Amino acid sequence: MNQNLTFTIFGGTGDLTFRKLLPALYNMCVSGRLGADDRIVIIGRRSYSDDDYRAIARDWVSKFSRLPYTEEDFAGFASRIHYYQMDFSDKEAYEGLNRYYQEHQLYSHIFYFAVAPRFFGIIVEGLTGVDGAENGKVIIEKPFGENLAAADALNQKMEAFFSPDHIYRIDHYLGKEMVRNIQTIRFTNPIFSNLWSAEHIECIQISALEDVGVETRGGYYDSSGALKDMVQNHLFQILSIVAMEQPEQFSGSEMHAEQIKVLRSLRPVKAKNIKDSLLLGQYEGYLEEKNVDPNSTTETYAALRLFVENKRWKNMPFYIRTGKKLGHREMDVAIVFRRSSPEIAPNILNIKIQPTEGVYLQFNIKNPGDTDEIVQTKMDFCQSCLDIFRINTPEAYERMLDACMQGERSWFSQWDQIETSWKFIENIRKVYYKQNLPVYPYTPETNGPTEADEFLNHYNHEWFE
Ligand code: BG6
Repeated sequence: MNQNLTFTIFGGTGDLTFRKLLPALYNMCVSGRLGADDRIVIIGRRSYSDDDYRAIARDWVSKFSRLPYTEEDFAGFASRIHYYQMDFSDKEAYEGLNRYYQEHQLYSHIFYFAVAPRFFGIIVEGLTGVDGAENGKVIIEKPFGENLAAADALNQKMEAFFSPDHIYRIDHYLGKEMVRNIQTIRFTNPIFSNLWSAEHIECIQISALEDVGVETRGGYYDSSGALKDMVQNHLFQILSIVAMEQPEQFSGSEMHAEQIKVLRSLRPVKAKNIKDSLLLGQYEGYLEEKNVDPNSTTETYAALRLFVENKRWKNMPFYIRTGKKLGHREMDVAIVFRRSSPEIAPNILNIKIQPTEGVYLQFNIKNPGDTDEIVQTKMDFCQSCLDIFRINTPEAYERMLDACMQGERSWFSQWDQIETSWKFIENIRKVYYKQNLPVYPYTPETNGPTEADEFLNHYNHEWFE
């Protein structure tokens, strides 16, 4: 039997496919990480020939690929792409897809559901009509359902068809270079690993600040909000990597086992503590965004103060901040060490995830000259400033597709992580809204609600760049 691999992308004419998946597959193809006979089958409703679709793909790939675009490389890549027109919500249509696979002898599958989660179940039902589909792998995008109950129902449906270890749930933050670097920085440097606890660290701050608004995704975002869109998945993944105990190995189940322990140790937020644990905001102008309810109270900003209840992190706050339409784009993890005395700035280890990738360590020195003044300086490693690193670093989606092909599961979300995070976030959100706490308005292009400054009152901006 022909063992060539077929990537079938449902939602092949959507933004995700054009911006991320095709450029990632192109990079994989150019760098020899696709087998000679591997195929890409694009599923879409529109009527395109293979050549029509390849011409559209060319524009996107030339714009978004990491590796240089050349006509010759693209021709080699494009010859693998086939367009198959069908309505994936029509169960009958899968008979035709099955025939197509048979005719082309495509038996070894990776299915990519690049569609809204409400279609996942329909596609799984349809695939029951495709011979051997249940032996394939499936990659699904977040959000996994709109809430815990929906995510649970969806998961059951998926696991009833695909083997659980063939389900790859993407959290693209796990594919980011500096997120993958956290464990190396932490565990291979005794100067950090020996100090990695509440005894020596004052607080840890995880920030994901975005300058963009909801753009074309108002409908989806309005039913989601910052907590579900960013915190429950991406930022909790990062939190669990930063706070976990060292796993025996960094691959597969050992790492997941440590990460899930952290999530399960998050101190539940009670009604009386909610004001100290969560603050929500909404940018001015959000209510006028397309497909947003004009009376919406959905948060576009969230700041959280959380505790991990174990010996290592006893009573040390983890701050998480995320928001849209802020003054600048920045994602980082700041480890703020305990100070030698209250009036002296802390040492800070800052792991910069994007847009700049790198790491810096801030410390105190005497201001040079005839003075005893103490000032802060830093040792700074800017990884993304060097072209050689930039071009050699696969992008998140490329990494995830490659990992799925290799059966490497450690950098995907597991169901138990998703379930635990959903429970925590749903609870904290419910408590906040039940108490009618304000969703504070904020002016676009600022740091978010001014009330958040007080909430994050340990956070002295002068100490950070
Ligand atoms: C997505 C969210 O998961 O991540 C978006 O749905 C957000 O709202 C995006 O903008 C951020 O990803 P990145 O890679 O640009 O930081």
